[in-house]
Amino acid sequence: MTHLTRRAFNGSLLALSAAGSGLPRLAFADEIPVLTAREGTAQLAPPAYPPTAIWGFDGKVPGPVLRVAQGARLQRRFRNDLPQASTIHWHGIRIANAMDGVPGMTQQTVAPGTEFLYDFTLPDAGTYWYHPHNRSWEQMARGLYGALIVEEKAGAPEVDSEEVLLIDDWRLAEGAQIADGFGALHDWAHAGRIGNWITVNGQGAWSRQVARNSRHRLRLVNTANARIFSLEVRGLAGWVIALDGMPLDSPHPLDRLTLAPAQRADLIVDVVAADGEEALLISHERDGEYAIASFTVSGSAQGDRLPEPAPLPPADLPGLGDITQARTARLVMEGGAMGRMTGAMMGGRMMDMRAMAGAGKVWAFNGMADMPDTPLIEAARNETIRIAMTNDTAWPHAMHLHGHHFRQLAQDGSVGPLRDTLLINRGADAEIVFVADNPGDWLLHCHMLEHAAGGMMTWIRVA
Ligand code: C2O
Ligand code: CU
Repeated sequence: MTHLTRRAFNGSLLALSAAGSGLPRLAFADEIPVLTAREGTAQLAPPAYPPTAIWGFDGKVPGPVLRVAQGARLQRRFRNDLPQASTIHWHGIRIANAMDGVPGMTQQTVAPGTEFLYDFTLPDAGTYWYHPHNRSWEQMARGLYGALIVEEKAGAPEVDSEEVLLIDDWRLAEGAQIADGFGALHDWAHAGRIGNWITVNGQGAWSRQVARNSRHRLRLVNTANARIFSLEVRGLAGWVIALDGMPLDSPHPLDRLTLAPAQRADLIVDVVAADGEEALLISHERDGEYAIASFTVSGSAQGDRLPEPAPLPPADLPGLGDITQARTARLVMEGGAMGRMTGAMMGGRMMDMRAMAGAGKVWAFNGMADMPDTPLIEAARNETIRIAMTNDTAWPHAMHLHGHHFRQLAQDGSVGPLRDTLLINRGADAEIVFVADNPGDWLLHCHMLEHAAGGMMTWIRVA
């Protein structure tokens, strides 16, 4: 990686300004904003507890909200001031392959004390996010993530406010510090690293003041390593208007909302709670319901609720073409605790579960517990591809495809909304279909980060 610096460019800087217009203006490296991964602290727990030592972008959790206009270019000098190598993956973006942030596949890791220049354009409006892709099971659990919002060119819904809500699940120990035990085999073979403390935007009690009958856009992101959220609102009523960044054809009345790791949902909500009451975002957990965000109602925006919002302008993606003629790749997910798998291929050899566990691998795709040398499927550019997945494990998995959005294909041939991450329940089958229009090598993995590290990782190649 080379960077343009003023020093290296001293001479030509003068020459350029003298030459004046006609040339595209070069962005000098020191004019591109820096995004630094570093240690910091955050008051995750209530004020009676000390602040938690975290890793965060610009030292904060969440990192800065990056906002860009649709079609615009995003440039960031990623500086790694962590004690570990890292990268940034721009989750859900139909991005140029070299900017996808996958170590060993699209770039080298960024060593401590060094930089990498991310530079790409954002084709689709929507709610996206960014996170590391090296040891993500540790780095994200320590707080490294942020929202990336791409604003609609036109047709953004009219709202009184917009809130980006990043929902996370932390495992805190004594003194509200992040519990160690990254890489614990028990977590890896079960549901992943499930925590004991939920935050919204790094706060245990996120709250805003709103007026009755006011309208808000909520951009929800599940940034947890492994927790699946089952959400509900009280004192708010509204619609889901987008999933995983992609607009729905029409607003879908808001009811229970399942948000698997990495999934997003854009909501339009109206405050229907009375003046003086509290509207809530609720997370249903096994041991009860938790209010994870609250909206204190004060005053009234207008007499009545507003009419149903119009759908967001659709994303400009190629049509699926003839699905029945499309090639299908098969993906069988195996392994984990209480699974049927007795062993899988590792390092080119068949290993039993014990040997696998010794090497930190407890899951497999198609009998392979490593990243395979060959892609799951090699697609021609613009070819329609189907992937038929079978979850032959005792756990749900959140399958994420890089660089593309796909639709779930139902048995009757109908297709679901565009997504980049799909939750597949234990024992379930799910088939996805997409147009492989983005050239490069792209990961397909479980976004329960311990599952990915434990073997649930493969890739596709688009010519
Ligand atoms: Cu959000 Cu491969 O990741
Ligand atoms: Cu999984």
